[in-house]
Amino acid sequence: MSKKIIIAIDGFSSCGKSTLAKDLAKKLGYRYIDTGAMYRAVTYYFEENDVNIKEHEAVEKALKDISIDFDYDENTGKQITILNGYSVEKEIRSPEISNKVSPVAAIKEVRSFLVAQQQKMGDNKGIVMDGRDIGTVVFPQAELKLFMTADEDIRIERRYDELKANGENIDLEDVRENIKRRDYIDTHREESPLKQADDAIVLNNSNLTPQEQLLLVYEMVQKKVKE
Ligand code: DC
Repeated sequence: MSKKIIIAIDGFSSCGKSTLAKDLAKKLGYRYIDTGAMYRAVTYYFEENDVNIKEHEAVEKALKDISIDFDYDENTGKQITILNGYSVEKEIRSPEISNKVSPVAAIKEVRSFLVAQQQKMGDNKGIVMDGRDIGTVVFPQAELKLFMTADEDIRIERRYDELKANGENIDLEDVRENIKRRDYIDTHREESPLKQADDAIVLNNSNLTPQEQLLLVYEMVQKKVKE
């Protein structure tokens, strides 16, 4: 059997990171972790429990009561996010949570709480993890790092289609606003801002189908495991 590696996938909102990470993990028989879901689950908990994110003590206290796990849909390989024993997979994808997650992801205590858990998940390698700081902070030693991007209009359309498909009644301009604001916060925050790792491979998938992209990256993995 070939050696197992860590694959770190970072990039902007809605540029297909999760689709690639999920499909790649399935093809390789690796574990797939969508770390954005972890930041979303924390945001959901803070909302439900009226945690004031400006109060450090309240945030630290709340984090002690949060436990995040994942289940997987056998057929699709899709990750199901479990917060304190209950699935919150649908709730964390709502526009409300999308609008509130970036300020939560900018909190130092939240990041160190989640990064420690993510690093543990990589102990046995054989993992594909997507997020914003995976190649820079969580796994700087990852054997393969990708920095994904796509043209802004394409990303906006993709998110809009995804929300519509989930039954959300949403305006295209609101989606545009949300994506731009999140990109800005994610790249400008003090704590581990989104940035390309020096040794990451840039993948602009504006003109690639998910299948084309999968095959391209699968070949990269094959090369890495033979090294
Ligand atoms: O990938 P996503 O849209 O579900 O991410 C939700 C938010 O969490 C987004 O604002 C960026 C942030 N995030 C982060 O700061 N670090 C990660 N590793 C993953 C997500």
